[in-house]
Amino acid sequence: MAASPDSVVELAEGLRSVGYLAGESTALVSFLAIKLGKPVLVEGPAGVGKTELAKALSRHLGRSLVRLQCYEGLDEAKALYEWNYRKQLLRIQTEASGAGWEAVQDDIFSEDFLLARPLMTAIASPEPVVLLIDEVDKTDQEFEAMLLELLSEFQISIPELGRIEARTQPVVLLTSNNTRELTEALKRRCLYLWLDYPQLEHELEIVRLHSPELSETVARKLVDVIHMVRELDLKKPPSIAESIDWARALLLLGAEDIDAETFRQTMSIIVKHRADLDVVAERVGLRLGGPAEPMGVSST
Ligand SMILES: Nc1ncnc2c1ncn2[C@@H]1O[C@H](COP(=O)(O)OP(=O)(O)OP(=O)(O)O)[C@@H](O)[C@H]1O
Ligand SMILES: [Mg+2]
Repeated sequence: MAASPDSVVELAEGLRSVGYLAGESTALVSFLAIKLGKPVLVEGPAGVGKTELAKALSRHLGRSLVRLQCYEGLDEAKALYEWNYRKQLLRIQTEASGAGWEAVQDDIFSEDFLLARPLMTAIASPEPVVLLIDEVDKTDQEFEAMLLELLSEFQISIPELGRIEARTQPVVLLTSNNTRELTEALKRRCLYLWLDYPQLEHELEIVRLHSPELSETVARKLVDVIHMVRELDLKKPPSIAESIDWARALLLLGAEDIDAETFRQTMSIIVKHRADLDVVAERVGLRLGGPAEPMGVSST
């Protein structure tokens, strides 16, 4: 656990110690984000470690992780704060006979009656946190505009209460799968990190970190095959997540090699589209020594 790293190498080692193998640019951009206090926009295909990077940073820096999962229609009430109407109502009812309206009003619009949502939690936290705004591309542009204000000022204005300013600087990560182009304004305020499928050796290291019991030979072959599969023109190429799952499965099955038969039995762990299964069975199956009919798919 480290409050703030002194170098890129130190950060990379710290992340490794909590189970995340950062590539060169990942370590560099994360380091700069911590030092410059700038948010990072992390883009890339599914399953390459975007979300995990935020989790790993929180583990390594010893900060709690505040996560805002974005979705279509996400609004300020779910992202920032909401008044606790029930509690306010109860308060009004119990006060009904006694105190005047002024006093009650002051009371029910105080922090006690506020429900803090992730963005506000991160801003108001007395301890610095890691704020993960996950899959920001799922929200609409209005929401993005609200985020912009927050990310540049690190404060939230509540009409009835006034301004809440960040007491500590959060490390902010925004992730996107690129389902829509984010605005230039948002990008300008962020450092940018493109995470792609890793190089062979890097992926081998990640797989071995997650499944250290898997033999070196099988792990290497697994990564070779995954890279071979990624070369094909598939709907959904396997990601690091699939490599890790496959390694675990092979370990459970006690596989000592990835031959055509083993591949046939387990390929649905890495390929998850009917059309892709056919392509992969034919192309990769052949290379492993014999056409592989994927399990659970019968040709008629
Ligand atoms: N560099 C890495 N070191 C260690 N584990 C990794 C690394 N990259 C990815 N992983 C592992 O891969 C899996 C998928 O990562 P993650 O969920 O972060 O992907 P993602 O990019 O957020 O995907 P999605 O876009 O689908 O949300 C996780 O189990 C994570 O632990
Ligand atoms: Mg994710």
